Amino acid sequence: MNSALAPGKIILFGEHAVVYGRPALAVPVTQVRAEVEVWPSEYRGVWIDAPDIRLKAELKEVEFDHPLAASLRTLFSELGVDPCPNINIRIRSTIPVASGLGSGAAVSVALARALCAYIGQPASDDQVNRLAFEMEKVYHGTPSGIDNTVITYAKPVYFLRGQPIKTFKPRKPFTIVIGDTGVAASTREAVADLRSLWEKDRRTWDAIFTRVGQIVDEARRAIEYGKIRALGELMDQNQDLLQHMTMSSLELERLIEAARDAGALGAKLSGAGRGGNMIALAEPSAASVSAIRDCLMSAGARRVITTTVG
Ligand code: MEV
Repeated sequence: MNSALAPGKIILFGEHAVVYGRPALAVPVTQVRAEVEVWPSEYRGVWIDAPDIRLKAELKEVEFDHPLAASLRTLFSELGVDPCPNINIRIRSTIPVASGLGSGAAVSVALARALCAYIGQPASDDQVNRLAFEMEKVYHGTPSGIDNTVITYAKPVYFLRGQPIKTFKPRKPFTIVIGDTGVAASTREAVADLRSLWEKDRRTWDAIFTRVGQIVDEARRAIEYGKIRALGELMDQNQDLLQHMTMSSLELERLIEAARDAGALGAKLSGAGRGGNMIALAEPSAASVSAIRDCLMSAGARRVITTTVG
């Protein structure tokens, strides 16, 4: 049996603009994860068991354009595995689907790792990242690559499309409270909708994406100099621009407002938006974290996770 684990992720700053070549900051979230196990099957075929999405079937029986089946076929073809081996694949994940926490990318990374090991070609992080990026294209068309990158290397990343991976180190640790709206939203649709807006008025949108890029660079400096208050303000500015991009939603706004009312230094949606998760920056005290957590729960959050960066 070969198995692999991959964490979830949050984007701290720069989602969407990152697809247009601007930088973004993301960190892994180890409180949630995807796990893949691969072992030989006595029956012919690729037997998938993914209880979290209620899928239990042989690969050929699954709808052709089912994202998991399509990404698996991509993986086999990238690895030049033909015919497919007779195997069982079990996929379990505690990362809510379509919630901005990287569920698809985590499954891709864990699948690539486990399958490479199974066929006797254990892959380096760089190889896994490349394979997972190809699989991500199946999930959402024109990914920037940030999700598979932060999840593969499992460390904070300052990501710029097409550039070698850079990490960043906070001068002081800071705590992020993550609130789930419980609303599933499609990254593919959100990215495609923004693309049509951009195609109609490139000048305006390019200027907005450039402003997001500046916020990301300022945020990186704030993190590296330990200026936590400035970081909170930058989160709010990033959120205003994400709202303008039509990526916020009533549920996200409700949680963001609740976090700010509870004393968060800043708050924004994280990931593709229109549902999924929001993040709030807590004051550096346990009391601040628990006040934000309580307010998020009272405002209807489905689940709250706390993660410390640094
Ligand atoms: C999704 O987690 C982040 C987006 O920027 C899409 C991408 O970067 O591929 C919305």
